[in-house]
Amino acid sequence: MCGGIGLRIFKVQGLKPLHGKIKIQGAKNAVLPMMAASLLAEGRTEIRNVPEITDVFLMAEIVRELGCQVEFRDNVLKINAFGLSGTVISEKSVGKMRSSSLLLGPLLSRAGEVTTWYPGGCVIGKRPIDYHLDVLRSMGAEILDDGGMLIAKAKKLYGTTFRFPYPSVGATENAVMAAVLASGTTKLVNCAKEPEVAELCGFLRSMGAKISGERTGIITVDGVEKLFPTNHVTAGDRICAGTYLAAAAASGGKIEITGVEPVILVEPLKSLRKMGAGIRIFGAAGPKARICMAMEQRPAGIEIDTGPYPGFPTDLQSVFLAAEAAGSGESRFRETVYEARFEAAMRLAAFGADVSVQKDTAIIKGRYPLLPGIAETPDLRGGAALLVAALAADGLSVIADRGHLSRGYEDIGRDLRKLGADIEECEL
Ligand code: EPZ
Repeated sequence: MCGGIGLRIFKVQGLKPLHGKIKIQGAKNAVLPMMAASLLAEGRTEIRNVPEITDVFLMAEIVRELGCQVEFRDNVLKINAFGLSGTVISEKSVGKMRSSSLLLGPLLSRAGEVTTWYPGGCVIGKRPIDYHLDVLRSMGAEILDDGGMLIAKAKKLYGTTFRFPYPSVGATENAVMAAVLASGTTKLVNCAKEPEVAELCGFLRSMGAKISGERTGIITVDGVEKLFPTNHVTAGDRICAGTYLAAAAASGGKIEITGVEPVILVEPLKSLRKMGAGIRIFGAAGPKARICMAMEQRPAGIEIDTGPYPGFPTDLQSVFLAAEAAGSGESRFRETVYEARFEAAMRLAAFGADVSVQKDTAIIKGRYPLLPGIAETPDLRGGAALLVAALAADGLSVIADRGHLSRGYEDIGRDLRKLGADIEECEL
C-alpha cells in the first residue's frame, strides 16, 4: 500500500454459518513481556510461535533502539541483548506502544536506569502505571516524574515484600523482571494469575531465575547474579481462541480450534455452554489439545462479570457481547477491569443491536438477524466485536479499521475466511 490513508476495509456478507478448523496464533500478551525479559541476559534468546502482529514489530523496534539485535521471520523471534546500550525509550515509541512500560523492570535490572514517558490512556481506560512505579520504588529505584517523562535509576535493586492493590498483569510482570537480578528475596502479594504471567515466570526460570508461586497470587523471587539466554515456544493465544469461538456462536456452525490449551479458557467455555454451544474438549492441555464447538441455536442470554484471571477475561467482553447482540435472550455484561470498555458495545447500534450501557453494565436484548451496518473499529478487541456482529447481519456490512486489528490478530480476515466467512478486504 503506497500513499494509502492506512485504512483497511472489511466487507462482510453475513448469515453464513462457520465451519472448519483453525490453529490459533501464539499469545501476544505472553510474547511482549518475554521480549522485555530477553534483555535480562547477554546473548541470543529465541522465541518461537510468535504472531506476526504490529505490537511485536513495534516492541522489536524499541528493543533495536536500545542496541539489541532482533531478527523476526516465520514466527521465530531472535533477540541478542549482548549489545544492550540504550536506556531511553523515545516518547514516539511509547506513544505507539503502551507495553513498552514492560521494559522498566528489565532495564533497571540490567542497565540501572531508564528514561521513558507515561504511556497515557486509551479508548478503554486511563491505563495508569502507578502500581508499576510503586513496586519498583519499593525495590530501591529512584523514579523522577513530571507527569510526562519518567527517569528511573537504581544502582542495585533489593528484594522487597510488596502487596499489589489490584492484581495488575503488567505491574506483576515488571516486578518479577525487576526482582530476578535483585539482591535478596522478593515476595509479591495479590499478583495477577493470568496464564501469560505464569508463562513469563517459566521463561525466566529457563533463563536461570529462581521464581515460585505464579498461579497462586503470591510470587517469591530469589535474586540471582546472572541470567542466560534461552529458547521458548509461546503458548497459544486464549483471546484469539475466544474471539473465533464467539464468532461461531454468533454465526452458528461447527468449528475446531487447535494450538491453545482449553485449561486456560475455562470461564469463556463455561459461558459458551450457557449460551447453548455444544463443546467437546480433546486433551485439556498440551500441544494435541482440541476444542470442538457446535452452535445450532441462537445464543441464549447470559450474565457475565469480567475480572482478573481466572475470572472471565475483559479482553473477550466485547466479542461475547457482540455474539449476544444476535442472541435470543437478554444478557447483562458487567466490566469490572476497565472504566470505559463499552465503546464497541455502543457501536453495535450500527447493526441494529439493542444495547444499553449504564456505568459499568451493559444490557443486551438479542435480535436476529442483525442489520447490515457500517462502522469503524474503536480498538483492538472492539474491532473484532464489530466483525462478529457483521457475521450475524442479514446483508453486506462494511467495517473500517485504522490498524487496531493487526495489533493483536495476525490476519483475522484470513482466519474467519478459513472458517467459511464471506469477508473481502481492501486497503485505502
Ligand atoms: C494486560 O494489560 C493486557 N495487555 C491487556 O490486554 C488486558 O486487558 C489486561 O492485562 C487485563 O487482563 C498485555 O498483557 C500487553 P492491568 P495491563 O495492569 O497489564 C489498572 C489486549 O487487548 N491499573 O492488569 O495494562 C488499569 O487501569 C490488552 O490484548 C492501575 O490502576 O492490565 C486497569 O483498570 C488490552 N495501575 C486494571 O488495573 C497500574 O499501575 C488492569 O490493568 C496498572 C493497572
